[in-house]
Amino acid sequence: MNKDNLHIKVSLTSNPYEIVIGKRSLECIGDELCKIGFKDGLKVLVVSNKEVSDHYSDCIIKGLIKSKFNPKLLILKAGEDQKNQSSIDLIHDAAYEARLERGSLMIALGGGVIGDMTGFAAATWLRGIHVVQIPTTLLAMVDASIGGKTGINHSKGKNLIGAFHQPKLVLIDPQTLFTLPAREFRAGMAEIIKYGVISDLELFELLEKQENISDFSRINEKLLIEVIKRSAKSKAEIVVKDEKESGIRAFLNYGHTFGHVIENLCGYGKWLHGEAVAMGMVAVGQLAVQRGLWEESDAKRQNQLIDKAGLPTKWPKLEQENVLRSLQGDKKVKNGKVSFVMPLTIGDVRLFNDISNKEIYECLQKLS
Ligand SMILES: NC(=O)c1ccc[n+]([C@@H]2O[C@H](COP(=O)([O-])OP(=O)(O)OC[C@H]3O[C@@H](n4cnc5c(N)ncnc54)[C@H](O)[C@@H]3O)[C@@H](O)[C@H]2O)c1
Ligand SMILES: [Zn+2]
Repeated sequence: MNKDNLHIKVSLTSNPYEIVIGKRSLECIGDELCKIGFKDGLKVLVVSNKEVSDHYSDCIIKGLIKSKFNPKLLILKAGEDQKNQSSIDLIHDAAYEARLERGSLMIALGGGVIGDMTGFAAATWLRGIHVVQIPTTLLAMVDASIGGKTGINHSKGKNLIGAFHQPKLVLIDPQTLFTLPAREFRAGMAEIIKYGVISDLELFELLEKQENISDFSRINEKLLIEVIKRSAKSKAEIVVKDEKESGIRAFLNYGHTFGHVIENLCGYGKWLHGEAVAMGMVAVGQLAVQRGLWEESDAKRQNQLIDKAGLPTKWPKLEQENVLRSLQGDKKVKNGKVSFVMPLTIGDVRLFNDISNKEIYECLQKLS
């Protein structure tokens, strides 16, 4: 057992669990499962993809066997386009083959795609079996693996099919980021900057002080762990206050309303999610300045930080009419008005439901 692992509690009343963060924490998988009450002989289905499994599944399987668990490994194809019903069928087929029972466990070893699919497959197999998340992208470490939102895409839209299903444990080993493509790393940084703006001024200032936040190989490990810890904590706190997303969980959508417009209009695949969120934060920052909610100097600080992370800040060339139409189709529309999460200061945001089309046009004008 590694004494240096950090433990963050996600104190939900009905399903509390821990996020464990530590260098080489993957090696502790067996011990961590024993600690939360899993017993010898437990059947475990580890779900991963080749890009991740090639590096990390051996360590996980060995750790499980060492603790006398009974693991099977399922390797799926990588990619957002695999986040569909056919992959869920493959996971369920493997669950059947492995004779998983109500007390058995699925482990998601991978990025948000593997995490969302495995979580959903676990939520629906035998009306719900246990799941553990082992996120291996920065985005999944600070966002997707925490909070219990699971699901797959439908041909008509992203994440339309899903369920809330909290994991029993989230195990984060920052060393897995060594093999993550640099662009994916930077995309995860966008969500970290988001946590700074919505709830953690100290995190924001810590990032501001660094010379480099865009290149993983030049970020020191202590800093990376600190940044992941603070972000995971922010997400955990928000989830605890609002498990089923009826109130302040909306704050997590900061930068996402405009970000989704970019993803919709430019096509998924042109920009990574984090990149679209980065441009979305710049855009909504402008909207907040225009309304007199946010100091221009704070918006500038945000935009400089996004730029330092190697993320795009320039709003793409898009027809204003199309932007408006796309905003109207967003899930965040209530009674025809689009809702935006906007900052009052760095570290404090509110949800606004009364943004007029005129304001949005003016903002787009300024951005182009
Ligand atoms: N459930 C939630 O609350 C939530 C929140 C945010 C995002 N998401 C979902 O997460 C998904 C995006 O997740 P993502 O950004 O992690 O992308 P991803 O899972 O597609 O991973 C990105 C790429 O990196 C590869 N990869 C992952 N870890 C690696 C590693 N350590 N080394 C080498 N390669 C590695 C993957 O195989 C993939 O090709 C989306 O489907 C999104 O909807 C869910
Ligand atoms: Zn996001």
